[in-house]
Amino acid sequence: MTHGAEAYRSREPLAARMNIYRWQRDPVDLPGLAVAELSGVRGTVTDIGCGVGGYTDRLRAQRPDLRVLPLDRSPAMAADALADIRYLPLADGSADAALAMHMLYHLEEPGAAIGELRRVLRPGGTLLASTNGAGDKAEIAELWAAALRDLLGAEPEPYANPAAGFTLDHGHLFEPHFAGIELREFARETVVPEPGPMIAFLHSLRGLAEGQLPDGIGWPDFLDRAAALVCRRIEETGAFRLTNRFGLFVCR
Ligand SMILES: C[S@@+](CC[C@H](N)C(=O)[O-])C[C@H]1O[C@@H](n2cnc3c(N)ncnc32)[C@H](O)[C@@H]1O
Repeated sequence: MTHGAEAYRSREPLAARMNIYRWQRDPVDLPGLAVAELSGVRGTVTDIGCGVGGYTDRLRAQRPDLRVLPLDRSPAMAADALADIRYLPLADGSADAALAMHMLYHLEEPGAAIGELRRVLRPGGTLLASTNGAGDKAEIAELWAAALRDLLGAEPEPYANPAAGFTLDHGHLFEPHFAGIELREFARETVVPEPGPMIAFLHSLRGLAEGQLPDGIGWPDFLDRAAALVCRRIEETGAFRLTNRFGLFVCR
């Protein structure tokens, strides 16, 4: 099983989710970091779950010597070919490096997907895999609870983070496949000064989170209430602040 197909039927929700990071303080340039980590790599690099293509674009611009192959399961994304990470259309040992950036948490069995990445990488090939850490955007879970508490007049079930299945705590999943595993870890804050982008971010979660709403509460009810809370927070404090915990596994 793989989760969240609904969330990637078009590019807009992903773009809205990424948009808020322009207000990240001391921002981390993950595509730049990926380019640096691949400085010793020659040949073919596949970018699996490429999304809107940020990593592929950067690699093609800065490393024109590489053959870059973006793949994604969704036809709306910037892939050269449709492919599911669970069954990659690549021969054994045919890639010199692979990227799986902020996507392994969509897999019910991320360990099996890592085994498939190992299969397509040549011996000594490099895997870069990014994801979030525990506590990342904890403010979204708080906002979810506050909005539902207002609507229900009772304590709701806690928000189940759709990215919880593969976090920075899951590095052990690489161990059966890679001898060298390093983690570059980051802690940042994103300070969003306007309600519009924050509300667009919340709405972008619909395909990932709507199924968690309690019976009788529709997505528009939730979004209206959460938007009102966002507006109030920004009026009172000048911004909506989000904790960012994320990192990059470098496996060789
Ligand atoms: C959060 S986005 C990340 C996009 C990009 N890697 C980035 O970091 O900007 C997750 C992407 O993974 C893709 N995806 C999800 N499950 C997949 C699977 N089983 N196989 C291939 N792609 C998948 C989605 O369609 C989406 O484009």
